Amino acid sequence: MGAVTGYLLGRNLAFRHAPALANGLMRLTNVTGRGGGDAEAGEAALDYFEGVVEDYERIGAHAGVCEGDGHGSEIFRGRTVLELGPGNTRAVAMLARQRGALSVAGYDAFDLQTRDPARLRALYEGLLKRTGEDRTKVDALLEGVRVHHDVASLKATGRRFDLVISRAVLEHVRDLTVLHRELRELTTDDAVLIHKIDMRSHGFEWDHELDFLLFPEKLYRAVTTHIGEPNRVRAQGYLDVAQQYGFTPVHVSSTRRISPERVATLRAALAEPYRSLSPEVLSVLGIWLVLVREGHPLARAAKAIDLESIPAAPSGMAPF
Ligand SMILES: C[S@@+](CC[C@H](N)C(=O)[O-])C[C@H]1O[C@@H](n2cnc3c(N)ncnc32)[C@H](O)[C@@H]1O
Repeated sequence: MGAVTGYLLGRNLAFRHAPALANGLMRLTNVTGRGGGDAEAGEAALDYFEGVVEDYERIGAHAGVCEGDGHGSEIFRGRTVLELGPGNTRAVAMLARQRGALSVAGYDAFDLQTRDPARLRALYEGLLKRTGEDRTKVDALLEGVRVHHDVASLKATGRRFDLVISRAVLEHVRDLTVLHRELRELTTDDAVLIHKIDMRSHGFEWDHELDFLLFPEKLYRAVTTHIGEPNRVRAQGYLDVAQQYGFTPVHVSSTRRISPERVATLRAALAEPYRSLSPEVLSVLGIWLVLVREGHPLARAAKAIDLESIPAAPSGMAPF
């Protein structure tokens, strides 16, 4: 672990003193929810983005926040949508608009948008072609879709959002309290929030999917203050901060697990507080989290969520 720690400290220091370089590097290395490689272009990229919006539609129906079935729903229709952490394209925003969203705005702490208009155009047109939509509609659908990099400019739009979506984002948020405080101001009182959260070690895993939990908190913070590595929050942490700001969980399901047998072999080496968590809790490597605000009809009837026995996500959805 010593050599790895040295490298991580150096990388964090470099990012601290050269944030522009860090943003550029992240763009170059395609730090996205789809992990680079084949999924960055061509059919695989189209599959990815189509899958992302279909997953929101399915999980929305499954959680009962909109009508629909296992195949989908009209979760976007008539909504004012905020996408957290869209990453390097506006593909999800465009598809949400095409599926009836009134408007879509993005909020991303980093400017990762791909700087290659031809590549983006090919992606957007390819996505529209798949749905049978006229590919010349790209500009119309993306008109007014802006990704904000600071909350002040997002708030200045005066919009309040009734649907917030994110995928592979919350685990990168340093201060979840600040984010939720802002979301409280930015959402309508009947808002729905759908997050897909990847709770695996990613960015510097070398042995297994929980190995980022080996670092004591102080050391982990020291190597990640200026890079977008995961925050290591487990499911309970996301529920706690959401509830603190009046967002009620109506659905939690696991997207991926590590076997309890494997957890048993790793647990003793983990840093606290992780070592003290139950094997069942530690085994969850990702979740779908659907929440509503107090004005939503589901808010009152919501039952307590038992994180010791999270059900698996509905089948047919992307694993991460
Ligand atoms: C792993 S990428 C996922 C991108 C995209 N959602 C996807 O699925 O390809 C994480 C994204 O979260 C953004 N992000 C990190 N911290 C954030 C924060 N505090 N608020 C908003 N976005 C953040 C990153 O800049 C990046 O775009």
